[in-house]
Parts: sequence; structure tokens; C-alpha cells
Amino acid sequence: MKVLVTGGAGFIGSHTCVELLNNGYDVVVMDNFYNSSPDALEAIKKITGKDFKFYECDMLDYDGVDKIFSENEIDAVIHFAGLKAVGESVEKPLFYYHTNITGTLTLLKVMKKHNVKKIVFSSSATVYGMGNVAPFNESMPLSTTNPYGSTKLMIEDILRDVCVSDAEWHVALLRYFNPIGAHESGLIGERPNGIPNNLMPYVTMVAAGKLPCLSVYGDDYDTPDGTGVRDYIHVCDLAVGHILALKKIDDIKGARAYNLGTGNGVSVLELVHTFEKVNNIKVNYKIVDRRPGDIGTCYADATRAQTELGFKTTHSVEDMCKSSWEFIKNN
Ligand SMILES: NC(=O)c1ccc[n+]([C@@H]2O[C@H](COP(=O)([O-])OP(=O)(O)OC[C@H]3O[C@@H](n4cnc5c(N)ncnc54)[C@H](O)[C@@H]3O)[C@@H](O)[C@H]2O)c1
Repeated sequence: MKVLVTGGAGFIGSHTCVELLNNGYDVVVMDNFYNSSPDALEAIKKITGKDFKFYECDMLDYDGVDKIFSENEIDAVIHFAGLKAVGESVEKPLFYYHTNITGTLTLLKVMKKHNVKKIVFSSSATVYGMGNVAPFNESMPLSTTNPYGSTKLMIEDILRDVCVSDAEWHVALLRYFNPIGAHESGLIGERPNGIPNNLMPYVTMVAAGKLPCLSVYGDDYDTPDGTGVRDYIHVCDLAVGHILALKKIDDIKGARAYNLGTGNGVSVLELVHTFEKVNNIKVNYKIVDRRPGDIGTCYADATRAQTELGFKTTHSVEDMCKSSWEFIKNN
């Protein structure tokens, strides 16, 4: 099976490429390196000992995307490419809507033209909005609190509509919870660009002395230690979820959403203290006010992915903290 991986040089995309190649898939990667570099592609080759085709291409470039499908017999697409920084999306909504929505529409138009109708899409737990109570399951009402989240929900809606219009489409909407960690080789991982939005990249930058102090947003939530609770999932477990979704894609009727999380909540301070303990390093932090738009507790009901895809996570929070730091130390 030949799989086009958009955004394959990025954090989750690179780990998924490793998993695809190790499982015998033929891989074609497309990326414009907006938030990644060619080093990740070399690292994937080094880890797997396998080669693959790469196209430096912006997903907004219809002719460029069309060329990829003309030159390769693509069977399915895993669609990671896009912009993902929540704060930046509030400052630059037009940039986010244009890139994520128009980029995806361009990709879908080209797929339709070439009769490629199987896609695994990177959605996010952010589509559960602020109105639901954890654990979040796939049947809950959806809403968003920022432009980034809205692009994810709109793309889900677009894909649902495409499936209604044409029963030949098979779509897996994978709603990631909080991916962290890095490949055991230490060669690929999350490379924070600028000031990170997410907790783990921030923690690693403080530990590395690149940022002075971690701000913990609120210690008065209704959680065991008052700090926000999230469902952290190792990026290698997440990558396996994509392989399982691809294996089942022909059985998926229309568009079906799957939570990819562990089903366990971990607080900010638990994560910070685990990081300090397993890596034997101090992380300076201070408690500050809650951040607008944040919810207290977010974790997955992971039942559907377990029962329908056979998904289960194998990495502990300790593994996630260790591998995240190993990658930053090596790079
Ligand atoms: N990391 C998370 O916490 C998280 C959580 C939920 C969902 N997601 C989604 O998963 C996907 C992958 O996330 P990630 O953490 O690997 O992000 P990432 O930024 O590391 O990877 C995205 C990749 O897409 C590429 N890209 C961006 N715009 C492009 C364009 N116009 N054309 C071609 N390539 C383009 C980037 O260069 C990058 O390599 C994204 O769609 C993101 O929204 C991520």
C-alpha cells in the first residue's frame, strides 16, 4: 500500500513515517518545512534503513499536489500538514483558516480527481470545547474556543460532508489528546520553534536553560492538586494508532472519529515532578493565573479506538518524560 504523508517531516508525521516504513508500507512524504527541517527525513531513513520519495510542496499549491498524485499510485493519505499553535491562531486567524482549510480543500480536490478516497486526518481533542465533562467520548457535542480548533472542526465537517456525497470515501478522524515523548533513537522528536504553547516543549526548554521559568496556569481547578489535568500520550503510541486506522480504513463507513489518548489524566505538576525525577533535573516553575480558554480536566474515553481499532498504549508517563528530554539533549 502506498501512503502519502502530508506534513511527514513534522513531530507526529516523522514518527508515523517510521512506523509505516517498519510495517512495510510504501511512503511518499510531502512537506513545505514551515515547521520542520530536512534533518527529520534523514533521521527517518537512518532509523528505518529504508528510503522513500519526498516532495517539498505547499499543500496550497494545487499543481504541486497534483504532480505527486500523477507520479505515484497513491492508495491512501495521512494528513498531518497544517498550522497548530493555538495562540498564534488567535493573532493570525486568516493565516490559519487559509492554510488549514484551503490547504485541505486543495488536497481533497486532487484526491478526488485521482480517485483516491481514503484519508486519515489529524484532528484534536480541542473539538470537545469547554462544555463537556471528561472523559470525552466521540459522541459528545463539538465546539471550539479558538481559530486553530475551529479549523479542525471545520475539516471534520468537510470530510463528513464529502462522505455523505460519495459513499466510496473512507475517513478516519483521529482526535489526538496530548502527544509528547520522542523516538527511542533520540533522532526525531518535537523541536520547539520560538516560545512553545504546549507544556512538554516548555518544560524541556526550561530544563535546558533556554527559558527561565515555567508558568503553571492556575492551581485552583477542581483536580487533585489544583493544576490542569491532561491525557498525555507517547508519540510512538500515537503513530501506531495511524497504522491501525489504515488497516481498518476499508471497513470504516463514511467518516468515523476515534480518540487517541491513554484514558488517564495527569496534572501539570505531576508531569513536571515526574520529569524532574526521571531525568534528575530541576524545572523552575511558578503558579500564575488561569489562562482564558483552558479547561480544568481533559482526558479521553479511549474505548472506541480500543474496541474498533485494537488500539492500546504501551508507554508510561516516565517513558514520555525521559524520551522528550533525551531528544532535546541530543539535539
Ligand atoms: N502536537 C499536538 O499536540 C497535536 C494535537 C492534536 C492535533 N495535532 C495535529 O496533528 C498534525 C501534526 O502535528 P505536529 O505536532 O506533528 O505538528 P508539526 O508542526 O510538527 O507538523 C506539521 C507539519 O506540516 C508541515 N506544514 C505546515 N504547513 C504546511 C503546508 N502549507 N504545506 C505543506 N506542509 C505544511 C510543517 O512543516 C510540519 O512539518 C497537525 O495537523 C496538528 O494540528 C497536533
